[in-house]
Amino acid sequence: MSDKSSLHFNPNIAASPIYVGGASIEAIPKEYGLEDVIKMASNESALGPSPLAVEAVQQAATTLNRYPPMGDEDLRAALAESFGEGFEPDNFFTGNGGCDVLSMTAASLLNPGDECIICRPTFPVYDITARRVGASVVYVDLDPDHFTYDVEAILSAVTERTRLVYICSPNNPTGTTITAQQMETLVNNMPSHVVIIADEVYYHFVTTDDYPDSLAYVREGKNVVVLHSFSKAFGLAGLRLGYAVAPTEIARYLSRARESFHLSKQTLVGGIAGLQDKDHIEKTVALTVNGRNWLHQQLSELGMQVWASQGNFVLFKPPFPPAECSERLLKRGVIVRPMTQFYLPTHLRVTVGLPEENERFIAVLQESLAEMEAEGVPKEVAVEQDGGEFKF
Ligand SMILES: Cc1ncc(COP(=O)(O)O)c(C=O)c1O
Repeated sequence: MSDKSSLHFNPNIAASPIYVGGASIEAIPKEYGLEDVIKMASNESALGPSPLAVEAVQQAATTLNRYPPMGDEDLRAALAESFGEGFEPDNFFTGNGGCDVLSMTAASLLNPGDECIICRPTFPVYDITARRVGASVVYVDLDPDHFTYDVEAILSAVTERTRLVYICSPNNPTGTTITAQQMETLVNNMPSHVVIIADEVYYHFVTTDDYPDSLAYVREGKNVVVLHSFSKAFGLAGLRLGYAVAPTEIARYLSRARESFHLSKQTLVGGIAGLQDKDHIEKTVALTVNGRNWLHQQLSELGMQVWASQGNFVLFKPPFPPAECSERLLKRGVIVRPMTQFYLPTHLRVTVGLPEENERFIAVLQESLAEMEAEGVPKEVAVEQDGGEFKF
């Protein structure tokens, strides 16, 4: 073995936190003896992938000996067509999932020492990708009770060094949204050296009337980048496809960060087919919205603190430590997600499943709560956070 002490590692990469995904079904310990495990931990689609996309991916597999197209012109053309007037292929920038788009965006728009604004609790990938390129993160937290945005506070936190402001709406993990008026205020008052990243990967599931039309800002050429993903309503999380919609100057610039042959042929054709599968999206959205409402009501009836969600998941605060709760649910075959990495060490998030999965989750939650009560499990959560900064 050669000596590694003389190697020079990039300190930003070395120090960057690592994203921890939801546990996979395969990772459940064999000794639990579970045959029928359901995963409600990663905001995937319970209805499964778009059948049209599956067919396209299978067909593309027969040409795996060939390189895929260098670029993504066909996919961007399909995206432009699906959004209609006001958009052209050059308004789109694609990557291997929204995470990859976020990573390339941070690498392209942030330099070491620049600042970005993140509103906790939210999706941890903003933090990770920004720190990885040496940017400083400025937190402007959501209201701790209602998880709403404080637009005035965000605007006051903007400095000469600010480059990006991340707005996640519906926000993962709270399910809350920024209002149309708040977005209008933010966009209209943001200095021109700042780009707003509007992460709207859950937009299909929104039912509130008070939701911003962020794409209109892109059409107007404002410094707004809207993030979408095929992992949610399209049911294609395993395909790894996401994209940003941005004014052409920004989208063209961001596209320079893509690698040669960035997307596989399967991803390209699967995405185009998925876009056309309107029927599948409609079914997925209907199932999700119904399941979300049902879960919200059931969790409230169990006495849990729950937040009204516009996403395909529901956040709740169990009366016992979340790690303990999730472990007991896991032993009963249901995977949910503790929210520590999402800056919420006292909460759990459950992804909407099929109706029978939602029912099973509620039943095993009830059982687990009764068991913990009977055993006298302490209710206090031991919160260990860096710098004691967290106030939720
Ligand atoms: C808010 C938010 N943005 C982006 C993503 C990235 O999704 P993907 O990389 O699967 O497209 C996720 C995934 O859960 C998310 O919750």
